[in-house]
Amino acid sequence: MKSFNVYNIFNIEIKKALGSTLWDNEGIQYLDLYGGHAVISVGHSHPDYVSVITNQLKNIGFYSNSVKIGIQDELAEKLGRISGYPDYNLFLCNSGAEANENAFKLASFQNGRKKIISFQSSFHGRTSLAVAATDNLNIVAPINENENIVFLPLNDLEALENELDSSVCAVIIEGIQGVGGVNIPTIDFLKKIESLCKETGAVLILDEVQSGYGRTGKFFAHQYAGIKPDIISVAKGMGNGFPIGGILISPKFEAKKEMLGTTFGGNYLACAAAISVLDIIEKENLMENSLKQGDYLIERLKQFPNLKEVRGQGLMIGVELYESCSSFRNKLLSEHRIFTGASSNKNTLRILPSLAIQKIEIDMFLEAFKSVETGFIPSNFDNTKSGFIPPTQF
Ligand SMILES: Cc1ncc(COP(=O)(O)O)c(C=O)c1O
Repeated sequence: MKSFNVYNIFNIEIKKALGSTLWDNEGIQYLDLYGGHAVISVGHSHPDYVSVITNQLKNIGFYSNSVKIGIQDELAEKLGRISGYPDYNLFLCNSGAEANENAFKLASFQNGRKKIISFQSSFHGRTSLAVAATDNLNIVAPINENENIVFLPLNDLEALENELDSSVCAVIIEGIQGVGGVNIPTIDFLKKIESLCKETGAVLILDEVQSGYGRTGKFFAHQYAGIKPDIISVAKGMGNGFPIGGILISPKFEAKKEMLGTTFGGNYLACAAAISVLDIIEKENLMENSLKQGDYLIERLKQFPNLKEVRGQGLMIGVELYESCSSFRNKLLSEHRIFTGASSNKNTLRILPSLAIQKIEIDMFLEAFKSVETGFIPSNFDNTKSGFIPPTQF
């Protein structure tokens, strides 16, 4: 049997990782400014994270949600406190798409409605309703097509006011659009959505799968707007690579037996990983680091003369060129051994490093960026000799 060939891949096999450094099967070293698609929050193979998961596995890895799993309560308490939502409830699942599916179900159970407002260039996952609410026809199979979804332009207050009435079940919006190319909703727009949802009884779902978990310098990107959604979906950075997702649910939703459920969601190993991530974020002040390094990187990137736009908040950064960014990205990888991300906006390069990235690593990236941007590649440039000493060698 072979793998079902659905991914565009680089012909590189990563064998080891630590912090923001990767090594391939030949021992070649790379700098990770992509975090495996915004997943790596506390750094690859963080020693505390490795030991917490290892120790948990020595006791028990899995039992079903038919018994009391105390570690779920521990995670919920910690996440509520650190995120600023101590009075919300937590439902655990396994991925971002699944989190959004559960958010939609809960919204519809709550108000009995079906219509969903989503936004142009959005991405909410690949399962049935999540993909239907994703603005990319290429990944929507005929069976996923859903007439209950309406896509509005982001930040268009008038379109929002015209569409958001008491027939709407839910509005789903990313804290910052990731896959779409790092598009930031304005504070006014988010506030307007919140107030219209309150007025009409529509449920406000904030998809923080990519923009959450400290990436923007606050725990959630929407907290810059001072709004309080009804449901917040999380995944990616939550487990630093261990599959886990969840929804934070306002206390106004009443849990009824069996309305939601999952086999693997909330298993011991996933909870241990997620607790360790929160402990490391707190202990190492990673939200502060994200803001500090992100501000520095954004400011330096804005000084490059040939870029169309630099958008971002903290360590969620989009660099828009005047043309497709694909050869730029390939050069960063093949000539400088630096991973960055693409987006559905072909001109926008995404930078999504671990929240623990250090200034010296950002400077390495900027040096490489400069040589690609100017088309000049110094013949003696070698990122392994840039002054950065990785913690251990492969
Ligand atoms: C904002 C957002 N929501 C949902 C998802 C889907 O997450 P998953 O791939 O874990 O299902 C993604 C994935 O990129 C995302 O960026």
